[in-house]
Amino acid sequence: MIDYINKFRLEKKVALVCGGLGLLGREISIALAQAGAKVIILDISDDLGLSFQEECQKSKLSIIYKKFDIANLSNYKEILTGLNQEQGPIDIFVNVAYPRTADWLNEIEDIKIDSWQRNIDLQLNSACLLAKEVAQLMKNNNVKGSIINFGSIYGVVAPTFDIYKDNHLTFPAAYSAIKGGIINFSKYLASYYGGFGIRVNCLCPGGIINNQEEKFISSYEKRTLLNRMGKPEEIASATVFLASNAASYITGTTFMVDGGWTSI
Ligand SMILES: NC(=O)c1ccc[n+]([C@@H]2O[C@H](COP(=O)([O-])OP(=O)(O)OC[C@H]3O[C@@H](n4cnc5c(N)ncnc54)[C@H](O)[C@@H]3O)[C@@H](O)[C@H]2O)c1
Repeated sequence: MIDYINKFRLEKKVALVCGGLGLLGREISIALAQAGAKVIILDISDDLGLSFQEECQKSKLSIIYKKFDIANLSNYKEILTGLNQEQGPIDIFVNVAYPRTADWLNEIEDIKIDSWQRNIDLQLNSACLLAKEVAQLMKNNNVKGSIINFGSIYGVVAPTFDIYKDNHLTFPAAYSAIKGGIINFSKYLASYYGGFGIRVNCLCPGGIINNQEEKFISSYEKRTLLNRMGKPEEIASATVFLASNAASYITGTTFMVDGGWTSI
């Protein structure tokens, strides 16, 4: 009889979580470590990174932090090769980093070209080039790994501006271009590396609860089928699934975790 629970276990797996100190990244790192993986968080804050590492180790979770700036597009290969030698071959790669410029939340009419270009470099070019380097490393190591890129509902559908305007907020135009690009590039990687047993999927969360104003939460909730925003742990469990052998026949998907937002 097949041991189905065993398919979800990640013992002996090495997982890299880029952006692992963020709202989603922390919960994803904890979930992967609870499933048995050795987790390496790549992020930019030593203070937060070292204190999170200590907190996790007190809870007997195998999580370490390494400083890494995804904005530096030219040194990925060197850093990944070093990590590979130090920590062993990478089996799982999750990119939940979210670098953005200070003027990221400008209306489309106020966007400056250098800001647009910078955000494309920070968020789209980095996600594609880093995932490509990891896939190549997995291939070289003969690892049948799992790569999970992060899209969004707004890589698939347009924002509903009334829920933002009514709350004096907006949603950046570049986000649609970036997330749409990451979704389709994930399919490209899945196609190219599929023959080597490497799976690549793009997880697309809907809005996650994070101290937003009540007025915004209630307008957002009305647009979901489950009448609520998502929780970080709901993204974390979907990530563990995609990372594990339980998802061994899932690749090239745009995996929506959005309470049904994109179904209507
Ligand atoms: N939170 C949501 O509601 C939501 C919804 C849909 C999609 N997403 C997507 O999920 C991903 C994560 O979102 P989040 O809400 O956890 O973001 P967040 O801002 O809470 O966390 C992002 C993490 O990226 C790190 N980071 C920033 N710049 C970096 C750099 N130069 N190098 C390395 N790390 C860097 C930050 O330090 C932080 O730990 C993003 O791709 C986002 O678009 C989030």
